[in-house]
Amino acid sequence: MADFDQRETPELIRALSPALYGDRDVFAREKQAIFARTWRLVGHENMLASAGDFITDDFAGTSIMLVRGADEEIRAFYNICPHRAGPLATEFTGNCGHELTCKYHGWRFMLDGRLRAARDFGNAAGFDPRDFGLKPVRLEQWRRFLFVVMDEDAAPLAALMAPIEEAWPETAIQPFALRRSHEIACDWKAYVENYLEGYHVPTLHPTLDAEIVSEDYQVEMHDQVAVHTAPSKGEDAVYTGFWGWVFPLLGINVYQHGVMMERISPVGPDRTRLDYLYFFDPARRDELEAMLKLSDAVTAEDVWICERVQKNLTSGVYEPGPLSPRHEGAVRWFQDQIRSRLELDG
Ligand code: FES
Ligand SMILES: [Fe+2]
Repeated sequence: MADFDQRETPELIRALSPALYGDRDVFAREKQAIFARTWRLVGHENMLASAGDFITDDFAGTSIMLVRGADEEIRAFYNICPHRAGPLATEFTGNCGHELTCKYHGWRFMLDGRLRAARDFGNAAGFDPRDFGLKPVRLEQWRRFLFVVMDEDAAPLAALMAPIEEAWPETAIQPFALRRSHEIACDWKAYVENYLEGYHVPTLHPTLDAEIVSEDYQVEMHDQVAVHTAPSKGEDAVYTGFWGWVFPLLGINVYQHGVMMERISPVGPDRTRLDYLYFFDPARRDELEAMLKLSDAVTAEDVWICERVQKNLTSGVYEPGPLSPRHEGAVRWFQDQIRSRLELDG
């Protein structure tokens, strides 16, 4: 059941204060109160087929890596060497062979994180290599998607994903096809709010509007998940008309022949990176091209508007405007979560 009626509110609801967008102190609080406590999608098991395969992820300034061990197990570590904080891997994905070597002074670690050799370190009383393994990060899987969380006390991933589990029938995930990143000069919240409403589809996205019945665009909220649905206009539509969103930074875009996991990566108070991971049926290469074209066009339109909104939010002129009860229920729901996690009154 939706948390509240999307179409009617007893009073006029106003948007968040613009002072929360693009602010250094707010971003520092969000790191602690939100990003360090919530699950982050890093990749899918099919991206780590062999021992030594790794994926890295830079998440709000913290670098994390997943690596498959010689024992087949996938483990997550901070991508931070315990010597003097060098990186173990700098590429998005690759294979490191049978060990991880720090890029700074060349300390070598086993794939399970234990320090194998501190290169040419010398003798120091009390130096025990067992004290200097890579620091593990909590890792859980949902439908073989790999998620990490920096908080040991966070609720299990399965609980978070339960509404998606119900709304999105399980289908085999196609092989990983490609990653695309897009930079946006806006606060991550401005982008998320844009993701959470279909109100702007007819005005901003002509190609998407040609594919779906925008008047029937629905967003339902369940715990920390928003489920978007819109009827497709034709059988050869690129989209299925289903999108999922998981608080705080994950979009799930389901296409006819694949899925794109949309990872929203806050980089700074007014910088956000979109990291798209596409999983697609390799036999449908032509549809992949069509899908990328549409996805790029829609992203460019969203980037364009979010950057202009960001500028206006921080102009000192804008005051919190009213939210549409018909279309912006999920924006309100998201902003309420921000208020509560940052312990704000208004
Ligand atoms: S920082 Fe990694 S070996 Fe020195
Ligand atoms: Fe959009």
